[in-house]
Amino acid sequence: MSEKFDVKLDEKHYIPDPRIKAEAWTRDYETTYGEFLNDPEKFWGDIAGELEWIRPWDRVREWSYPYARWFTNAQLNITSNCLDRHVLNHRRTKAALIWRGEDGEERIFTYRQLAREVNRFANGLKSLGVQKGDRVCIYMPLVPEQIVAMLACARIGAVHSVVFGGFGVSALNARIHDAEAKIVITADIGVRRGKTIPLKGIVEDAIINAPSVERVVVLRREEPQVELLPEMEVDYHELMEGADRTCSPEVMDAEDPLFILYTSGSTGAPKGIVHTCGGYMVGTYYTTRHVFDIKENDIYWCTADPGWITGHSYGVYGPLAVGATIVAAEVTPDYPDPGSYWKIIDDLGVTIFYTAPTAIRMFMKHGETWPQQYDLSSLRILGSVGEPLNPEAFEWYYHVIGCGRCPIVDTWWQTETGMQMITTMVGEPMKPGFAGKSIPGVIADVVDRNGNPVPPGTGGFLVIKEPWPAMLRTVYKNDERYRKYWSTIPGYYAAGDLAVKGEDGYIMVIGRADDLIIVAGHNIGTAEVESALVSHQAVAEAAVIGKPDPVKGNTIKAFVILRTGFSPSEKLTSELTYHVRKTLGPIAMPSEIEFVERLPKTRSGKIMRRVLKAQEMGMDPGDISTLEE
Ligand code: PRX
Repeated sequence: MSEKFDVKLDEKHYIPDPRIKAEAWTRDYETTYGEFLNDPEKFWGDIAGELEWIRPWDRVREWSYPYARWFTNAQLNITSNCLDRHVLNHRRTKAALIWRGEDGEERIFTYRQLAREVNRFANGLKSLGVQKGDRVCIYMPLVPEQIVAMLACARIGAVHSVVFGGFGVSALNARIHDAEAKIVITADIGVRRGKTIPLKGIVEDAIINAPSVERVVVLRREEPQVELLPEMEVDYHELMEGADRTCSPEVMDAEDPLFILYTSGSTGAPKGIVHTCGGYMVGTYYTTRHVFDIKENDIYWCTADPGWITGHSYGVYGPLAVGATIVAAEVTPDYPDPGSYWKIIDDLGVTIFYTAPTAIRMFMKHGETWPQQYDLSSLRILGSVGEPLNPEAFEWYYHVIGCGRCPIVDTWWQTETGMQMITTMVGEPMKPGFAGKSIPGVIADVVDRNGNPVPPGTGGFLVIKEPWPAMLRTVYKNDERYRKYWSTIPGYYAAGDLAVKGEDGYIMVIGRADDLIIVAGHNIGTAEVESALVSHQAVAEAAVIGKPDPVKGNTIKAFVILRTGFSPSEKLTSELTYHVRKTLGPIAMPSEIEFVERLPKTRSGKIMRRVLKAQEMGMDPGDISTLEE
């Protein structure tokens, strides 16, 4: 797809009740944005000053293109801000975490209780020899222990790499391998739609050729308990049992790594995005507070699993840093019925709800009668993330769920950005289809290939023009890949998304410009699925494209050339689908496989996926001068 396209912009907008603006943390967007532009370092320094540091910074920002350092020489521990700070103030007995299981089980942790769990588990990890800088892989279901494990790593300065519990053996193996994880923390099972997923079994297979792994910690949820392998596997609760309730926070430099999170790349190998302690803390704290306009009595629910960046930044670190009550639930939006989310909102009185467009579109499909069975009047603010919130979905979310009362924050950001970058701040006019403007603290724009801003209504590349505190610092063991973010469009951070700006500066994000497919809000690299397919003995070559889907945004279609001796059959189709499911996990499964004789390629042998896509959708393939045949 070329960047040259024109979009007819619908100028429809909604103006929220003026009281919302009058009471918001960011009362006046334009003024705040002006203050930021006037003195970015003062802006970010003031925000950082609201948090606790062991040692203050010398400089707010040091920028040596393309490398930034934030809060230089400052020392901190993010868990002191997420936990200790609240335990020592009026939030000591406030609920930090309300967890719901699929069967309705509920567990509540006050800030004091959560801090204690984290400290004990941190001591447990230490007893296994985990030290500052060691990588720990967390492959768990969405249970409180997953959050405890993350915070415990942060407490002792270990770098966590959370891998989503829906990933399969080889995806997990690749992530453990790349990070050289010393410890893997898992559970016997995850629960999804009434079925169990054998996480421990998957870990056993995934660590076969991962010599870095010394021990596996297993949270046993099922009775009778699964057997643990002596020497290698340790029971989560046994590790906690003898452990001391206090663990002093490791002194971290602001630029020390906090975590690695893998995201799909346009090559086969996932990229380990590295985030650091200081800037990430400040960026997620600030955006959580201002974008969600979170107040002391809010009950905040981000539906994302901590296996994704949304779960890290807005399911765990951001909301705990502001001292919020967070809801976490091991539930699926349509199980046991499409009322499961609305029931939780009703039961717990959720006030701020943050979810993905794919879920909203699925709810639309099931109709209004489901939400109408529940009392959703507690809701105050609605959020969306992960892919474009199309105008139809916006309208439905706004009217059916928010009853025309709640501002919608459609937040654009990425694993790499660490924090939200573009949205419509609460109280500002909302335009369906448009995420909004740069959040104060961020300078986003839409430009052409050379970095020149494009006129309103013309498509271009979404870029960030100045560094921001929560930005990625590198790609683990692949700094060249990091530099590429800043060199594709000279001088700017290129997000890899196509976007359009309206006359008023509002930004509409169109979608990816590269070989990533967003399926139900999850980033999947075409190359990952292709290499999973060719790892099957029947497959010679494969090409994968995203096909627009009314609910999931996209589904995956694979074109496959078979090796001689194999012929197309339904059996083979399901075998290949299952093969991808097993290697990468259910989210990467193709929903369609077409057997072909040839694939369109460039002279240099690169598969031209856009030609396949155009053909599939009956569109003009655009420039095919590089096509071989
Ligand atoms: O294409 C954009 C889309 O999701 C990509 C980032 O994916 P990931 O790193 O997995 O992080 C997702 C959660 C932050 C972006 O490059 N995206 C994310 N939010 C939006 C979006 N597209 C349009 N509108 C959004 N609000």
